[in-house]
Amino acid sequence: MRKLVEEHSWIKRLLALIPAIVDDLRASGEMNAGLMREILDFIRGYADRFHHMKEEDILFDYTDEEAEIIGVIYADHDRARGFVKAAAQAIEDGDISAFCVNLSAYRNLLTQHITKEDEILLPYIDRGLSTHQVGEIFRRFKEAESEAGDDVPGKYEGLILELERQFQDKEIEGCHTPTKDVQAPA
Ligand SMILES: [Fe+2]
Ligand SMILES: [Fe+2]
Repeated sequence: MRKLVEEHSWIKRLLALIPAIVDDLRASGEMNAGLMREILDFIRGYADRFHHMKEEDILFDYTDEEAEIIGVIYADHDRARGFVKAAAQAIEDGDISAFCVNLSAYRNLLTQHITKEDEILLPYIDRGLSTHQVGEIFRRFKEAESEAGDDVPGKYEGLILELERQFQDKEIEGCHTPTKDVQAPA
């Protein structure tokens, strides 16, 4: 559980940078496809493949998959994938605005999602685990991580540090599009 919470903290560091990144893209009005792809690469390679997959393919084996909270978590993961898909399409279309709208919607969703997991889901699952199961999950996480490649966390943590260097001190001018009602495409 500690491992997943630690991964959340890296994902939250990206989420914290998104307003500054979005403002920068909008202000410049220029397609910075390299930067846009790097952000999506982190979301897909780390947040989704490396992290969400461990939740879905390993952790949820140790809980009641019919439980309401698990359904909510799966639905969040799916909606997140929808926003990422739409953001990738926006890069292809050269549509900065659509990219920013979908990235901001992803941020709103994931911020709430991580809070649900840290405060409700992980403590709920943790309470039901035996010591033996904790050991088994630990082993399966390790296996999944070496399958993904041992360089994966380091690569993506490096990317976050680089983005923080670029964007952390940028003034946020509060010109983001409200994204509350944006729905992920089906
Ligand atoms: Fe998570
Ligand atoms: Fe999750």
